[in-house]
Amino acid sequence: MEVKTSLLDNMIGVGDMVLIEPLSEDAFIENLKKRFDHNEIYTYIGSVVISMNPYKSLPIYTAEKVEEYRNRNFYELSPHIYALADESYRSLRDQDKDQCILITGESGAGKTEASKFVMSYVAAVCGKGQEVNKVKEQLLQSNPVLEAFGNAKTVRNDNSSRFGKYMDIEFDFKGDPLGGVISNYLLEKSRVVKQPRGERNFHIFYQLLSGASDDTLKKLKLDRDFSKYNYLSLDSATVNGLDDAGSFRTVRNAMQIVGFMEDEVQSILELVAAVLKLGNIEFKPESRCNGYDESRVKDKNDLKEMCELLGIDQSVLERAFSYRTVEAKMEKMSTTLNVAQAYYARDALAKNLYSRLFSWLVNRINESIKAQTKTHKKVMGVLDIYGFEIFEDNSFEQFIINYCNEKLQQIFIELTLREEQEEYVREGIEWTNIEYFNNAIICDLIENNKNGILAMLDEECLRPGTVTDETFLDKLNTVCAEHQHFESRQSKNSKFLTDHSLPHNCFRIQHYAGKVLYRVEGFVDKNNDLLYRDLSQAMYKAKHGLIKVLFPEGNPAKVNLKRPPTAGFQFKASVGTLMKNLLTKNPNYIRCIKPNDKKAAHIFTDSLVCHQVRYLGLMENVRVRRAGYAFRQAYEPCLERYKMLCKQTWPHWKGPARKGVEVLLTDLQVPAEEFAYGRSKIFIRNPRMLFSLEEKRRQCLENLATLIQKIYRGWKCRTHFLLMKKSQVVVAAWYRRFAQQKKYQNIRSSALVFQSFIRGWKARKLLRELKHKKRCEKAVSTISAYWHGTQARRELKRLKEEARRKHSVAVIWAYWLGLKVRREYRKFFRADAGKKIYAFTIQRIMQKYFLGLKKTMPSMSPVDKSWPARPYGFLDRTHQELRRIFHLWRCKKYRSQFTEEKKATYKEKLAASELFKDKKALYPSSVGQPFKGDYVEITKNPKYQKLNSFVEDKVLLADMVSKINRANGKGAPRVFLLTKKSLFLADLKTGQVKASVPLPDLSSVSVSTQNDGFFALKIKEGSTSAAKGDFLLSSDRLIEIITKLHCIGATSADKKQLKVDISDEFLVQFKQDKVCVKFIQGTPKNGNGVACKRKNNRLLEVSVPSP
Ligand SMILES: Nc1ncnc2c1ncn2[C@@H]1O[C@H](COP(=O)(O)OP(=O)(O)O)[C@@H](O)[C@H]1O
Ligand SMILES: [Mg+2]
Repeated sequence: MEVKTSLLDNMIGVGDMVLIEPLSEDAFIENLKKRFDHNEIYTYIGSVVISMNPYKSLPIYTAEKVEEYRNRNFYELSPHIYALADESYRSLRDQDKDQCILITGESGAGKTEASKFVMSYVAAVCGKGQEVNKVKEQLLQSNPVLEAFGNAKTVRNDNSSRFGKYMDIEFDFKGDPLGGVISNYLLEKSRVVKQPRGERNFHIFYQLLSGASDDTLKKLKLDRDFSKYNYLSLDSATVNGLDDAGSFRTVRNAMQIVGFMEDEVQSILELVAAVLKLGNIEFKPESRCNGYDESRVKDKNDLKEMCELLGIDQSVLERAFSYRTVEAKMEKMSTTLNVAQAYYARDALAKNLYSRLFSWLVNRINESIKAQTKTHKKVMGVLDIYGFEIFEDNSFEQFIINYCNEKLQQIFIELTLREEQEEYVREGIEWTNIEYFNNAIICDLIENNKNGILAMLDEECLRPGTVTDETFLDKLNTVCAEHQHFESRQSKNSKFLTDHSLPHNCFRIQHYAGKVLYRVEGFVDKNNDLLYRDLSQAMYKAKHGLIKVLFPEGNPAKVNLKRPPTAGFQFKASVGTLMKNLLTKNPNYIRCIKPNDKKAAHIFTDSLVCHQVRYLGLMENVRVRRAGYAFRQAYEPCLERYKMLCKQTWPHWKGPARKGVEVLLTDLQVPAEEFAYGRSKIFIRNPRMLFSLEEKRRQCLENLATLIQKIYRGWKCRTHFLLMKKSQVVVAAWYRRFAQQKKYQNIRSSALVFQSFIRGWKARKLLRELKHKKRCEKAVSTISAYWHGTQARRELKRLKEEARRKHSVAVIWAYWLGLKVRREYRKFFRADAGKKIYAFTIQRIMQKYFLGLKKTMPSMSPVDKSWPARPYGFLDRTHQELRRIFHLWRCKKYRSQFTEEKKATYKEKLAASELFKDKKALYPSSVGQPFKGDYVEITKNPKYQKLNSFVEDKVLLADMVSKINRANGKGAPRVFLLTKKSLFLADLKTGQVKASVPLPDLSSVSVSTQNDGFFALKIKEGSTSAAKGDFLLSSDRLIEIITKLHCIGATSADKKQLKVDISDEFLVQFKQDKVCVKFIQGTPKNGNGVACKRKNNRLLEVSVPSP
């Protein structure tokens, strides 16, 4: 459970001055002291934070503290600046109210530190992210840069801000920082050329000389030794606790983070160096004839170096220090400057240079940190302006600073005291007025346009004639003499005539924070802030980019004769704008108090604190706070905010808002003294009451949120559950299905296993039985077979025995009968019985032989050579004779079946056999060939019609032959025709007869013994055909042709048969010459046919493949 805390817990003194009892100044101071002694430096007055400067670092700014204060109610924890920062940030983020944090207090009271704590707290609690962090870092890092250039050690504060700073931090709707804008107010530039005793120039000069590298210093033509520079006061050049060198590094680093370019940094440092150099330029008088002294630069070295640094023509600058151009009535006049004027000019240049550089820096930083978006921005302004200053010697700057503080006090009074009280009256709330000091009158003394001090100063500055600080004081003495808060020796107010604490050249103002004595010296000059035009023009001519920008009025093209607005005027205007700006925002106050003048921890100087408490109006603040109401709000937003706390107003209230709020508060039973109903607002007296309302609201919102959450979670869980359930059902169904399938498969496979086992077992059993049965059957059959076998064998044996017995009986009987017959026969046929038995036996054997031969007769084919075996040896010859007779008879039978035609064919075949068998190797191949005769189908082939008709007789043979050419031994195809009377050779294609030879003209025919078809037809010498010579022909059917030729002779009239010569060498009578045809056996080279070659005139060689 969250532990509720309150600022009342472990409280030292009282944390909120509103609760102090009794309400007295002493008690107030005592309370502050008590808390201060316990390091409780923060105390509240309502929502205002009083901050005591501890002058030592306290462990109360840690990250844990940030977390502790984050999002907590203002009064929940002990007072802290973080509580105010958190309140302000949340109000900005959640209620869209622009905020400003006004930090006031004397110089050294801790304003700047407080502003940094506020910024760092806001940076720590606002959004995160790369871009946001970069913005934050830039915003935070702008501080060290501005502090280096704008802060200095003073007697009151080692790090005193010498400029006013107001920074607007811009946020987006989520409260993430977007960027910021810094406004600076009046830098105390006189410090550049002169510092009061015990004080220093701006930090940057010391930081540069201590921290920059040798190289950088050389480039800037600077020396590390502070004492070399007139503008640097020596008595407190080094300050305890300030590490200038370290700070320089921090500043360089910060500049880099903020976004300065390297060359920009270099330019800035060059300008800083130039200021130092400028301080070292000294002048000496040079007498002129007109009696006036004219200034001259003493040692030109520093001038030269400065001009080199800034790229200025040395002579131009030198001249500007000696002469001054005055323009009046369109005329330009040059007047000389004396030494004092030259120094004045130099210092004015240095101050201007530095202050303009500072303003440029602020603008440059603004450029870097400005928000990138143009969307609506929420703004938190942090004002850290120089505190109220009372020095021994107060000048124009203090006057201005204190004026600014007066204005801030004015705002404070306006908003916290006057405005509050006025509001009670306006709202008709019963109210007893509380007296407080309103400093409006002092503000009026200073800023009144007609007779205010600033207006007087301006008037003096602009007035023609001699104007001095004294004339200004005179003027004040006349105009302001009557004013209650103005004191001067010479004023008409005789009261001060004898006041010796008031020197003659001074005036005193009773500020809200005390009386301050101002010395008028320098007021006019500082207000004029004059820089001779010659100098600004010289600066404009510089080649240095940055310096040119800083002195735009030096541009001769833009000569403006009008005087620039005075410093006082400018400041008044900018303070006016600032005040207007602050009034639009919700103010948060941090009132800083310094406990002692010694910058020391642990010292609490009552009088000093008392003084501050008084002028800050803190007591009045408490009184108003105690008498009044801590919180007010218009009815509508109030109802809107708390309506959920009451049933009647939630969710909507119909009716006037005030009525609603009344109902609400009544319902909540808020005691009547805790609030009051104003005309348009409800006033709540006690913050605690408000917080309790807030708490209730938070509780209620939490409950509402819980309710919404509950319903949403319920809905979400339910939908989720339903989905899960649905899914579960699906999953379960699928799983069950799967499980059942699995189980079924298991059962099935087990069943199968069982089944197979049982079946196997059954089968085996059956098999066993069957086997057994079979074995039994087999045994039975075997036994029976054996039995039957035994029986059969027994029977057979018996039968055999019986047969044998019968046979022996028969034999015995036959023998006995034979014996009986023979005995009987012998008795009767004894003489020729042997012959008769022999004849009978032979007869019987012959009969048996012939009958057997009849049965075993071979076939009728003449080629069947089989013949039954001879049964009896004595019939051997008979058996051979019978075989021969049978064969002849069989042949006769076979021949008798032949036709005439077949007979002729066989005759021819027989003739062929007689002629060639065993004589010519070609013969065996012709045996199987039927002698067909006509192979070219002479009668049917239309090609040979003519030839057919030419041959009168019957064609006995027609075939294709080759006629061998005697010249080369090659054959030409011819049709060979043979009739009873002649033979013809005709053309194969046309059928035309080429030669015809009557058969009687043939003398013989010659063939070889070889397997070739060559034959030579020899013509009888002296016959009619002899003229043509013999024919050498070749035919595959040589056997048939020659046989036919041979047989024709047998049938011719003279029965003269053609002679056939068979020899491997024979002569052929061609037309003129006789050629020998020789047959040799050999392997012809191409193919396996017969080749004929002419060897010489007398020899034709025929090579025949060997068989
Ligand atoms: N809260 C604090 N804790 C520790 N030291 C502080 C605190 N506030 C101020 N100081 C010290 O006081 C000095 C002056 O504070 P500063 O804020 O510069 O004063 P101001 O801006 O009001 O002139 C600081 O340099 C610091 O040493
Ligand atoms: Mg400061």
